[in-house]
Amino acid sequence: MEKLVIRGDRDLRLCGEVRMSGAKNAVLPAIAASLLTSEEVRLSNIPRVKDVETILTLIAELGGAYKVDGDTVSLRVPKIRSDEASYELVRAMRASILVLGPLVARFGKAVVALPGGCAIGSRPIDLHIAGLQKLGATISLEHGYIQAQADRLRGAVVEFEKKTVTGTENLLMAAALAKGETILKNCAQEPEVVDLAVLLNKMGAKIEWLDADTARVRGVRELGGAAHDIIPDRIETGTFLVAGALTAGDFLLRNVCPEHTATVIEKLRASGAIVETEGENALRVAGSREVKAQDITTSPYPGFPTDMQAQFMVLLTQAAGTSIVTETIFDRRFSHVNELVRLGASIEVQGDKAVVKGKTLLSGAEVIATDLRASAALVLAGLVAAGETTINEIEHLDRGYERIEEKLRGLGASIERVKT
Ligand code: EPZ
Repeated sequence: MEKLVIRGDRDLRLCGEVRMSGAKNAVLPAIAASLLTSEEVRLSNIPRVKDVETILTLIAELGGAYKVDGDTVSLRVPKIRSDEASYELVRAMRASILVLGPLVARFGKAVVALPGGCAIGSRPIDLHIAGLQKLGATISLEHGYIQAQADRLRGAVVEFEKKTVTGTENLLMAAALAKGETILKNCAQEPEVVDLAVLLNKMGAKIEWLDADTARVRGVRELGGAAHDIIPDRIETGTFLVAGALTAGDFLLRNVCPEHTATVIEKLRASGAIVETEGENALRVAGSREVKAQDITTSPYPGFPTDMQAQFMVLLTQAAGTSIVTETIFDRRFSHVNELVRLGASIEVQGDKAVVKGKTLLSGAEVIATDLRASAALVLAGLVAAGETTINEIEHLDRGYERIEEKLRGLGASIERVKT
């Protein structure tokens, strides 16, 4: 086990420059897409994070081959020796559900463990299942596993009851090889979904967007290989932008896509931080010691991302006044609140809202992380908490952030990874 030890400083100013990694939530569906073809799929700018290792293990267990060389992974799945995604892998990472669509579409069968819930709430996959059934898959749920079968999927009109990121991704991949035309309505519009469609079209799929959340997919018999650059991680970008705002720092973020982070940037500017684009793919953030309170409500892209809710809440603990944070996507995504209160924050949860009263001076303590973004929030709080903050169980953090302590140290933070 490992922990992070942070020596916080209320007057810390992060300075210098830092390079963002490729997006975890873009590389996972892109790796799953390699199941759709027998040819090589080569992905570059991949983040070296635990979730990538997990899904590559899953691809290998299914019978695929892969080779990682620096920030590039080459995958090839000429055939499969198993069509089962085991419970231990799915439990380790619910995004393993992304192999369901490709396996059924190309091989006619998939057996995937039900993901179950996690620290941020119940994580149903009924919309994935309903969509695949519309395309003609026969699906049964037995012994905690989804068994899906189809001789060949057939195009259909699928309207998602609510926006689902991986549900949309599963259906884009399945429809790409279905016989005939599929129309997907009420699709998630996250950049990672749009980028998956770009990759699939490079592989020979025929996907076009009829409007922002309606896709038309004309199925093809088979798909080929492709080379693709993974887009920058907009949530890592948002996390570091908040670090700059929180510490009244002044630094550059490289390898970013500003438009993917527009809503977070807008809220940071409203809180008093300066955020400027520097050329094509860099941002400059300069924080202010006077942080303005404001209300945040999470919603599907292009709204304020739920994956930035915990991190932004830390900034709001330093704002003068009261802020209301409303979480509309997940039913239990306030696990970071109790830990922030232990660091000295004044936050009260009332249903889907958290009422944050600031400004509170934070002081270091031993805290525990329960999910990926809650962990990131505790790191941010530790930076400006007087004294030492120890964050235990940082395997959650390592699932989605590449070398976060090195990146923060490079900006002037005092943070170490320690074996326990
Ligand atoms: C993706 O999860 C992301 N993960 C999550 O990021 C992100 O928080 C989430 O989208 C929302 O933006 C990946 O892309 C790998 P959803 P996903 O399906 O696809 C409900 C992180 O920190 N729903 O968009 O699982 C669901 O309960 C992770 O990087 C159903 O009801 O989320 C939720 O309330 C955490 N039935 C809402 O929809 C379904 O079949 C959105 O979930 C599917 C979802």
